[in-house]
Amino acid sequence: MTHLITKALNLNARIYDRWARNNLAGVYAKIVELAGLRGDEKVLGVGCGTGNLDLMLAGFLEEGVVCAIDIAPKMIETATRKAKEWNYSIDYKVGSSISLPYQDEEFDVAFTCLIYHHLTYKSKEETLREIYRILKPGGKYVSCEFEAFPQDIFHRAFLRFTRDSGILHGLHPDRLIEQSGFKIEREMEGPSLLRHHCTKYRVLSKRNRLQRVIGEE
Ligand SMILES: C[S@@+](CC[C@H](N)C(=O)[O-])C[C@H]1O[C@@H](n2cnc3c(N)ncnc32)[C@H](O)[C@@H]1O
Repeated sequence: MTHLITKALNLNARIYDRWARNNLAGVYAKIVELAGLRGDEKVLGVGCGTGNLDLMLAGFLEEGVVCAIDIAPKMIETATRKAKEWNYSIDYKVGSSISLPYQDEEFDVAFTCLIYHHLTYKSKEETLREIYRILKPGGKYVSCEFEAFPQDIFHRAFLRFTRDSGILHGLHPDRLIEQSGFKIEREMEGPSLLRHHCTKYRVLSKRNRLQRVIGEE
């Protein structure tokens, strides 16, 4: 586990869970809506935290499969307990987004919600590459992530402290998305969270083989 912020959240998984349920319910619902699911897909939540989005997905996907992964053991512990309480079968794993323990082209849809501000630039690149790898051709990746953080004294000091390694920067470098090979299908402004931190929803798609052969944009 690399970052202080990730370690702190791990130790406070229950507090985080309460905050997320109170503040992110609308975000999770929007992510599910943007995914346009049929109900029989195999989906993966990356950096799933305490599993609130996964519960919504499991409720929706009557014939599908929900898998989810997070680097923080206490987050997965809380998520597993909640899935049990709801009687949902969700396949949880402790692991890192930069080396996903799944096969190539295993999933129809992948999700992230507010994880890229925990990752260095290099890890952001690796995470996008991994999500691309585990998606089937034509598969979708739906996210809600922070954009550039405000340049106030607090954030400037934090960036200095973390040697500007990419933490506290969300997924705003669009260059990374272009490099990863994903096609941007849709982007829209998300809510402002934690006092003026802008977010953005994105629906990305992995081109199918024909689109890649003919170089379709
Ligand atoms: C702000 S929380 C968001 C959790 C969840 N997606 C939600 O919406 O409630 C960020 C999550 O990313 C996880 N995380 C950080 N780095 C990760 C990595 N490299 N691989 C997987 N999960 C990671 C943290 O443990 C934490 O649970």
